[in-house]
Amino acid sequence: MNYQFADRISALQPSAIREILKFTSMPGVISFAAGNPSAEAFPAKEIGEISARLLDENPVGALQYSITEGYAPLRETMKKHMTERHNSVKGFDQLIITSGAQQVMELVVKSLCNEGDCVICESPSFIGSLNAFRSYNLKLCGVPVESDGINIELLEQALKTEKNVRVIYTIPNFQNPSGVTMSLEKRGAVYALAKKNGVMILEDNPYGELRYVGEALPNIKSLDEDGIVIYAGSFSKVLSPGMRVGYAIAPAPVISKLVVCKQVSDVHSNIWAQILADEFMNTCDYDAHIRHIREIYTRKSRIMTDALDSPEFEKISYNPVSGGLFVWCTLPAGVNMPEFCKKAVRNNVAVVPGNAFLMDESEPCSSFRMNFSTPTDSQLTEGMEILAGVVKSL
Ligand SMILES: Cc1ncc(COP(=O)(O)O)c(C=O)c1O
Repeated sequence: MNYQFADRISALQPSAIREILKFTSMPGVISFAAGNPSAEAFPAKEIGEISARLLDENPVGALQYSITEGYAPLRETMKKHMTERHNSVKGFDQLIITSGAQQVMELVVKSLCNEGDCVICESPSFIGSLNAFRSYNLKLCGVPVESDGINIELLEQALKTEKNVRVIYTIPNFQNPSGVTMSLEKRGAVYALAKKNGVMILEDNPYGELRYVGEALPNIKSLDEDGIVIYAGSFSKVLSPGMRVGYAIAPAPVISKLVVCKQVSDVHSNIWAQILADEFMNTCDYDAHIRHIREIYTRKSRIMTDALDSPEFEKISYNPVSGGLFVWCTLPAGVNMPEFCKKAVRNNVAVVPGNAFLMDESEPCSSFRMNFSTPTDSQLTEGMEILAGVVKSL
């Protein structure tokens, strides 16, 4: 059979870079390439107890079809949480439950963009979102991320020169992959530029709770007086990614479109997991749990950054880690980054080449991403020792 596939997914071919990622599942390879929560971070006991209670007391509710917008008590719980703690639900907004934050990215471009429209993204940015945008045949315009967030001058220029810009996509807290947090000043500037140009902002914040240093900054959504910000939240990094529970906060007319699009996508998100998430928020000590996972990740990030601070790694610079799950490292000028990553994986340590996070993977890039949450502490130590040898051989 000569299989014919849709033109709009032609940009989703596996790339040479992703081939490196295949090695990560090979036995003996220490993977710094994933982005999974630590095995230590799951409140498995509480989840087990809630689940048993739920199936005992309300099996039909947990196992039956449900409504697209999501489990009403969880919508209320998250509305309250996001209002009281983050001032991020405005009078014109509604909140719906999605299948992870990933689904928000897809539903937003599916409902707001026509083929060929432009989405402005931070460069580098999260591959999952870039691929969701690519699958709708959108033009991705990358604006560089600096140590305090997206470059505002270049954002302004892109808004002037690019045609049909519909969305500015940003991860303001502990950005994946760069780890950068956008300053308050830049949050205001991005908002003002979006407003001036009649463009929506898609604010993706899966890592906001994972702060290890300093004070939280207000969400861009909290600045939204004009109904131009769509906020994507997730339980993946704070509770469990396997539950696939995320949420979107947006003005009511946008939410109605997201709901129709979701209906044809997956009817509704896993209702058992939604009830579980709601019970967890209301019957467990959420703040104590967040403190606990922050401690785990502070410890793990330090194993990685202490190694990076040692003389063996003096050739490598990296973005300071104040939260999130990643360290973004940069090699000295002139070093071939794909070769470096291949050499690392041949020595049994996998890292992700920075190109994978660019709008155009063929652009040169001298950075790579490492994750510290998934490996055990001893794997972190061993992996960094191996990597030190690879760096030495540069
Ligand atoms: C920046 C960013 N956005 C969204 C997601 C998707 O998360 P979810 O598991 O909620 O779909 C991830 C997952 O790694 C991410 O890093």
